[in-house]
Amino acid sequence: MAVIEVNHPLIQHKLTFLRDKNTGTKLFRETLNEIAGLMTYEATKNVQLQEVTVETPLMTTKAYTMPEDVAIVPILRAGLGMTEGITALIPTAKIGHVGVYRDEETLEPVYYYCKLPNDIAERKVLLVDPMLATGGSAIYAIDYLKEQGVKDIVFMCLVAAPEGIEKVVAKHPDVDIYAAKIDEGLDENGYIYPGLGDCGDRIFGTK
Ligand code: URA
Repeated sequence: MAVIEVNHPLIQHKLTFLRDKNTGTKLFRETLNEIAGLMTYEATKNVQLQEVTVETPLMTTKAYTMPEDVAIVPILRAGLGMTEGITALIPTAKIGHVGVYRDEETLEPVYYYCKLPNDIAERKVLLVDPMLATGGSAIYAIDYLKEQGVKDIVFMCLVAAPEGIEKVVAKHPDVDIYAAKIDEGLDENGYIYPGLGDCGDRIFGTK
C-alpha cells in the first residue's frame, strides 16, 4: 500500500487554476485532463514492460512496449473528467464505468450503472475520481471491481481528504492511491477544504 502525493511543479501549477473559483468550465475541463495525464506518468511507473524486437534504420535491437492490458474506470460522474487525459497517454486502454451512490435509508451501495470490459479481471485498473472525500464511492467501486476478479487496482484522484484516504487504506490496503494534493480535511457538508468545490458541477457546468 502506498499513498503518493504527486508533487510535480507542473501539476501544482495547474491545480491552482482548478482551485480558483473564477476558472470557467472550458479551462477547468482542459486543465483537469492535463493533470490526469501528468499523474498517469507517475501512476504507471510500476507497469511491467514487454520486451520486443525492433528494426532501427541501423540494426535490430531489443526494445520495450506497454502491455495492452490497462483499463481506465472512471467513477461517475466526475471521474469522466480525467478519462481523456489518461487515454491521451494510454490509447490502447479500455474504459469501464462505475456509477454508485449510498442509499440513505438502507446505507447500502446502489450500483446504478456499471459496465466493464469483459476481460477486466486480467487488467491493471486505473480507477479515477477527482475528489477523494469521505472515501465511500471509492470503497464501493473497489469492492465492485474486486467482485469482478480485478487484482491490480490503482486509485487516481486530484484532491484527497485525509479522512477519505484513511478509510480507503483501512478497507483496501492493497490499492495504491495517487493524489495531486492531500488537502486539510472535510467540512460539515462533506466538501474537501480548501478543495475546489463540486468537481462534477465545475466539469459539466451544472449547478
Ligand atoms: N466531491 C466534490 O466534488 N467536491 C468535494 O469537495 C467533495 C466531494
